[in-house]
Amino acid sequence: MDAISALHNRVSVAKLGEPGPNGTQLDIMLRAAMRAPDHGVLRPWRFMVIEGAQRERLGDIFVEARLQSEPDCDPAALDKLRGKPLRAPMILVVVAETDPDNRVPVVEQIVATGAAIQNIMVAAHALGIGAMWRTGGMASHPLVKRRLGFADKDEIVGYIYLGTPTGSVKRVPEEAHVPYLRDMPQ
Ligand SMILES: Cc1cc2nc3c(=O)[nH]c(=O)nc-3n(C[C@H](O)[C@H](O)[C@H](O)COP(=O)(O)O)c2cc1C
Repeated sequence: MDAISALHNRVSVAKLGEPGPNGTQLDIMLRAAMRAPDHGVLRPWRFMVIEGAQRERLGDIFVEARLQSEPDCDPAALDKLRGKPLRAPMILVVVAETDPDNRVPVVEQIVATGAAIQNIMVAAHALGIGAMWRTGGMASHPLVKRRLGFADKDEIVGYIYLGTPTGSVKRVPEEAHVPYLRDMPQ
């Protein structure tokens, strides 16, 4: 698939099954991430690969975090939360390990990490791998960051769910072909 076709036709895939990306495919996606624009060449991104039983550990961390902020949380909600990382065979936790003292503002370090994620999303599409960028409350919870070995100042920019699309993949919406142009005010 050529690059323009991948850029024009990428869609998120929520329903993902086995197999997850193999080592070669993961390497291709991470090399694509490394080519994201990066002010100051800080390489602020970190990629944590979670697969197999590690997904259950991540689910347990989510539950621990939710219980810390909401001790009376409904057990059914906790069970649902625990199961979230099982929605795909592989999850890439993408974190901006920010440097607040750098002349490059932290927001730009986070944006660069988002650009790295987008390169992963497009590379996954080009490889025929389904991908979905997720965040939610478990992306900003301090306990989750700490349990994964990151500092409070760092940002989990995305949980990238990766696997083989199960079922039909949605169509690119018509609206995607309309450029959102604005005229400069006079
Ligand atoms: C930073 C970020 C966080 C997101 N978090 C979620 C999420 O937690 N849950 C979700 O269903 N979609 C989330 N999305 C949206 C999906 O990843 C996806 O982009 C959206 O459903 C549109 O589908 P498309 O990518 O096929 O156009 C997020 C997107 C971004 C950029």
